[in-house]
Amino acid sequence: MLASEARQILSRVGSLVGRNQLRSISNGTAQLDQQAQPKEAQEPQIKKFEIYRWNPDNAGEKPYMQTYEVDLRECGPMVLDALIKIKNEMDPTLTFRRSCREGICGSCAMNIGGTNTLACISKIDINTSKSLKVYPLPHMYVVRDLVPDMNNFYEQYRNIQPWLQRKNEAVEQKGKAQYLQSVEDRSKLDGLYECILCACCSTSCPSYWWNAEKYLGPAVLMQAYRWIIDSRDENSAERLSKLKDPFSVYRCHTIMNCTRTCPKGLNPGRAIAEIKKLLSGLASKPAPKLETAALHK
Ligand code: SF4
Ligand code: SF4
Ligand code: FES
Repeated sequence: MLASEARQILSRVGSLVGRNQLRSISNGTAQLDQQAQPKEAQEPQIKKFEIYRWNPDNAGEKPYMQTYEVDLRECGPMVLDALIKIKNEMDPTLTFRRSCREGICGSCAMNIGGTNTLACISKIDINTSKSLKVYPLPHMYVVRDLVPDMNNFYEQYRNIQPWLQRKNEAVEQKGKAQYLQSVEDRSKLDGLYECILCACCSTSCPSYWWNAEKYLGPAVLMQAYRWIIDSRDENSAERLSKLKDPFSVYRCHTIMNCTRTCPKGLNPGRAIAEIKKLLSGLASKPAPKLETAALHK
């Protein structure tokens, strides 16, 4: 829609909407005006990005913040677009992880404007009077610039054995039949399997900051629960008994930073609460509605 058409519509609806709504629509038309002009005629929209820098290969170098100025007219809308533009056009030494650019791989997780989130789905605040600060995920060792060391996190994930475990696999003709699951049992995995292991939640958790070696953290615990509650998994009791110590689960104090920050809208805090209920005997895993083993008799 052209800006002039938008303004005509505005004048017609003016009597029907409130003043605040009208003002926000007017701001929209101001942007339309700007977009309708050829790029050369538009006002530059210079946004400052203050980015954490540290290269351990430079002996004696301490971490510092480096400021880059990006013209938003020539940049995509997301923070990752700005980082890629800075790397391509201003400073090839700037280091960060990214892959899918659509919130699926989890590799671009970082702290943006004070929040742990994914750079590729995080919109740049177009208010150019404020700079945007970008740090690596907090309380992680830094490999370089915005790249955190994920080794401990992945090792903890490996330790919960994130795969389906059966006790009678031999009689089930391994690999030759499906493990059945009712629709109701399958729905228990919703909100759990979608986790992309970005670690935004774990690195926003104060308990994980102070006990990252022993406390598993919300991301890994949610995946532990994903396998514990899977109706096809027969090792739930063993999985739970491995979590029965003062640190693995019980360092969670239900602060809920994890759930607040998850860029996928998941609720690891709830999953941890469910594990605590199972550990304390307040709840137990229901029997599966469909029995795969019965098919092989
Ligand atoms: S629960 Fe959310 S924040 Fe945590 S690792 Fe999974 S996707 Fe990332
Ligand atoms: S609810 Fe538990 S895991 Fe989540 S932030 Fe709080 S202490 Fe950490
Ligand atoms: S690049 Fe894959 S989640 Fe951002």
